[in-house]
Amino acid sequence: MSPDLAQLRAEALAAIDAAENLDALKGAESQYLGKKGALTALLRSLGTLSAEERPAFGKAVNDAKVDVTTRLEAREEKLSGVALADALEGGPFDPTEPGIPPLVGNLHPITQVTHELVDIFEGMGFSQCDGPEVEFEWFNFDALNIPASHPARDTQDTFWLDDGNCLRTHTSPTQLRAMLKLGAPLRVIVPGRCFRNEAVDATHEHTFYQMEGLMVDRDISVAHLIYVMKTLLREILGKDPKIRLRPGFFPFVEPGFELDVHDPFDSGEDKWLEILPCGMVHPEVLRFGGIDPEEWTGFAFGLGLQRLAMLRYGITDIRDFTGGDRRFLRQFRRA
Ligand code: PHE
Repeated sequence: MSPDLAQLRAEALAAIDAAENLDALKGAESQYLGKKGALTALLRSLGTLSAEERPAFGKAVNDAKVDVTTRLEAREEKLSGVALADALEGGPFDPTEPGIPPLVGNLHPITQVTHELVDIFEGMGFSQCDGPEVEFEWFNFDALNIPASHPARDTQDTFWLDDGNCLRTHTSPTQLRAMLKLGAPLRVIVPGRCFRNEAVDATHEHTFYQMEGLMVDRDISVAHLIYVMKTLLREILGKDPKIRLRPGFFPFVEPGFELDVHDPFDSGEDKWLEILPCGMVHPEVLRFGGIDPEEWTGFAFGLGLQRLAMLRYGITDIRDFTGGDRRFLRQFRRA
């Protein structure tokens, strides 16, 4: 092989190896093997050689061309990802075979319900807030008018930490946090995780989700509370809800109610379901929140998100939500 040819061959192979993508490879190909390529030019120059020189040189150029072409094809295959697929599959790549579908996850049903609720409330001018899951005793109890003697403070119901704080037993402490931070007037919702020292069974969980709602403004009355609750239920249930208010006791509201809905999910049964504890914010709680109860009034409610999801989807065991069984979770995949 002539020194010129050997160098050209080496250059061509190096250019092919250096090509980082198919475009660069095409460039190298035309530079050496194209119509005006360097190797092509050498082959063309055969005619200028004598009859004795021609066969040997012709063969040498051809060999070099085969080497370069082979390397080029290998590089192309690699760059196209075909070589990679072969390596992964351990066999020849069949582009007509159906692929392996990627694992598509979905949002947890509680997250889906939460998003839906946030959407509904944003439409009514509420903003979403957050609060800590580890809470001061004052926010979780005192400021909500829950006296030291109240059974809810008992370790039977509350996870107390060594430093005197607790895991919040409801989202209601965020009522205070919102009032102190935002002042009146305000409209907030606070979806979040709560904890109670429960004996766990099909309807009780130590970790559960609530959504707190709070509206404070001038002249807010029970009528506003009912309007907002009915709007919420209409959106969620997709029908005009039949509701009733019963007195309910929560130390931080006065008056306090249990809001029941008649057969919310059309089971056909003549049944009232307790869905929404709510009430007018107690003046003392407004005061703790730095808001003058002579000037402002408000309502609050607490929605149990698992309960809502259970009723809606016919889920019978609350433990399924946190059990991590993908067969359960997969059912809430949306197209
Ligand atoms: N925090 C109460 C609970 O967890 C629910 C509630 C919220 C009641 C707001 C009235 C007003 O049971």
